Amino acid sequence: MKKLILFTILIAFAGPLTAQPKPALALIPEPVSVTRKTGVFSLPSSIVIETTDERPLAASINFLKQRFTQATGRSVRISRTVPAGPHIQLVLNRTPDAKLGKEGYRLVVTGNLVTIRANAPAGIFYGTQTLVQLFPKEIESAVPVAGVRWEAPAVDITDYPRFGWRGLMFDVVRHYFTKDEVKHFIDDMVRYKYNLLHLHLTDDEGWRIEIKGLPRLTEVGAWRVEKIGSFGAFTPPTPDEPRTYGGFYTQDDIREIVRYAKDRFVDILPEIDVPGHSLAAVASYPELSCTPEAKNYLVRSGERIMDWSHGAPPIALVDNTLCPANEKVYAFLDTVMSQLAQLFPFDYIHVGGDETPKNFWKQTPEITALMQREGLKTYEEVQSYFEKRLEKIVESKGKKFMGWDEILEGGLAPSAAVMSWRGMKGGMEAARLKHEVVMSPSTYAYLDYMQSDAVMEPRVYASLRLRKTYEFEPAPDSIDARYVKGGQANLWTEQIYNFRQVQYMLWPRAFAIAESVWSPASKKSWSAFFPKVEAHFNRFNVSETKYSPAVYDPAFSVKRAPDGTLRVELATEVEGLDIHYTFDNSFPDRFYPTYTTPLTPPKDATTLRVITYRGKTQVGRLITMPVEELEKRAPKKK
Ligand code: ACM
Repeated sequence: MKKLILFTILIAFAGPLTAQPKPALALIPEPVSVTRKTGVFSLPSSIVIETTDERPLAASINFLKQRFTQATGRSVRISRTVPAGPHIQLVLNRTPDAKLGKEGYRLVVTGNLVTIRANAPAGIFYGTQTLVQLFPKEIESAVPVAGVRWEAPAVDITDYPRFGWRGLMFDVVRHYFTKDEVKHFIDDMVRYKYNLLHLHLTDDEGWRIEIKGLPRLTEVGAWRVEKIGSFGAFTPPTPDEPRTYGGFYTQDDIREIVRYAKDRFVDILPEIDVPGHSLAAVASYPELSCTPEAKNYLVRSGERIMDWSHGAPPIALVDNTLCPANEKVYAFLDTVMSQLAQLFPFDYIHVGGDETPKNFWKQTPEITALMQREGLKTYEEVQSYFEKRLEKIVESKGKKFMGWDEILEGGLAPSAAVMSWRGMKGGMEAARLKHEVVMSPSTYAYLDYMQSDAVMEPRVYASLRLRKTYEFEPAPDSIDARYVKGGQANLWTEQIYNFRQVQYMLWPRAFAIAESVWSPASKKSWSAFFPKVEAHFNRFNVSETKYSPAVYDPAFSVKRAPDGTLRVELATEVEGLDIHYTFDNSFPDRFYPTYTTPLTPPKDATTLRVITYRGKTQVGRLITMPVEELEKRAPKKK
């Protein structure tokens, strides 16, 4: 009996003595400062949001209402006065807290009160995003979920962004995405505190925005032949194939998208990509070209039009450029920029400038005459002449001029801002010249690149895995950070045919970029980040947002032993996984051999199949790697 009493006493005290560690928070992007407190805030059965700023805080209120009502089924009401009982309070500071700026917030969660304070509505909005991430994953459900403890841990968070430009680029040309899909993209991006949507609106494969007075841009330029497969290598379309695939945004659509974005604190940067990447415009108005054959040109449907075998700039097989020696081009661009400036309130217009082939220019008498007249010595200087004239047009509409880093070649226009995509060096050079810079290097921030091995993904010419993306540093020590406006990830859509694949390509890499552009550099850590990614995978499972599980797939590297046989090395970017494999054409699971040292395919084996597990749980996908493919990747036999 005595023993039992002692045991009971021990049990009674065991709670406080061996208090469970608090479950880790999984906030993406990582806030500036987080202090854990004891206790939890439980959502009451009737949820009250107290605020005297209902109108300016409509976006935040709507967001909280939507999450709480959809997921919990509980009612949410707004109160202008302090209600009895636990509630959520949203407060716009009457005296600004300088540290928070325009987008920062303070979020304090206690047992009976949640308070979000900010200097401006954007800050409150970002505070609500963080608050929702504190609740269990089921808060992401579109329908009520029973049996969940709707609790948020007590915390005191102070948070504000590292950069004012936190961008995602969406290419709506190579594949057209509807107005509702663009809105969905915006809904997804703001969850991770992105504030800039760069819309790539024109290219060889389409012109996606209505321009009054230039109807052929959308009657002709917005449409191509529908093709499925590996974009870039399609058979050239025949004249009888219907050109019914594509679409465009009317000016009313654009106004609606801009308003939708603005309501969620997102600016839209429109891009009209000239003078290269302009086949849709040329097919619509061949007089914009200096190449007589342009009258026969058609909008590209994904067939080969460039020869990249000699590197950049490419050799064009059709002249997809606007002609810099043609005055009609500048009149055309004046009309386009004028209407763009009216439609998009954002300060900047992006004019592309990338990958302009020069080979047709070399055969064009008008260009030769222009060079003589203007004293231009190189074809890069011809492009620079074009950019400087275009800069004047853009500025005459009250906008700032931005382009890809090729606009540095041949001399940068006087006030141009540069978006650095060919690595960081263009951005560094522009900053040295005291020009504004946005970093979006393909090496870290090209979300169209493959996330897993090429045998697993739609084929793109390069790979970018999550861990490398997480290393993105928009303002390294070697650059004058004053000129770095921020960073951006780019989603080109040649191989992206539908919106589910858009999500697959964005996430989880856009989590990584979000931390690079929002969180203090000192707060970034891969080992802290990856568990949060997994927590957000679970949230996405609830919200049915697609993401890529490629991070669990091993990377293959192939060497050749001195005797000529292959040595296949497998590595995962996630700790603690086992890779199981077989060469016998069956389907490995965790009872198959575990990879420990480089593998040599047995003579006559045709496939290596691998799969990753964490303990008993399959996490990676089954990868079937042809031995023939490994042979191709290995160094040549001596
Ligand atoms: C680019 O990726 N061509 C800007």
